[in-house]
Amino acid sequence: MDSSEGKRTDLDKDRRTFLKATVVASAALAVGGIAALSKTITTPGEAQASSTTAVTFPRVQVKDITSGLLATVNNLVTNASLNFYYPLDNEANIMVKLGVAVPNGVGPDGDIIAYSDICQHLGCNPGFVAAGKSPPCNPAYSAKGPEMYCCCHGSIYDMADNAKVIGGPAPYPVPRVILEVDSSGNIFATGMTGPTIYQHGPAGSDDVTYDLQGGTPV
Ligand code: FES
Repeated sequence: MDSSEGKRTDLDKDRRTFLKATVVASAALAVGGIAALSKTITTPGEAQASSTTAVTFPRVQVKDITSGLLATVNNLVTNASLNFYYPLDNEANIMVKLGVAVPNGVGPDGDIIAYSDICQHLGCNPGFVAAGKSPPCNPAYSAKGPEMYCCCHGSIYDMADNAKVIGGPAPYPVPRVILEVDSSGNIFATGMTGPTIYQHGPAGSDDVTYDLQGGTPV
């Protein structure tokens, strides 16, 4: 081997070393990039932690889906449910004048309450069942109090106790619609409480910001 061949071999060795170092550095950058990206993905825990975020919901008078009438304390019938959309124009809720005062109830008797009518199990629409009555799908069942009963798989929500789940597979209560009654007796929806409406945001999150996403406000 002459001296020029010896120099070429040294040069090749240097190139290989440089290329190897570049590949390692690129891989390290790629891993770093993924790590940085993963930090921007919100986890359910983080979403719940942000539940103190101020959220402004539309304030709209409750409107009966069936009759188209605007709700007032005077046109509600005790133990008859009224369905209305809120906060998006395709999301049903159920409002009932229970005839007995309940926590968070509004109106002169503190007995008007409303919850999301989208079941937290798989999204069916539970119906109202008055105390001592039965849902159409389960005549053998007798409600212990005012309840929402989901006939798809039997989830039961206690309307007198913040929609606590008292039966069936639903993992969370349905969210409550925040109601307000003006001096003329008109009933308005002004917001929602957590957990978020079914399929809005991470399951079970209390960040109600998610309730306003994915559709058109009423
Ligand atoms: S969707 Fe309501 S119980 Fe399954």
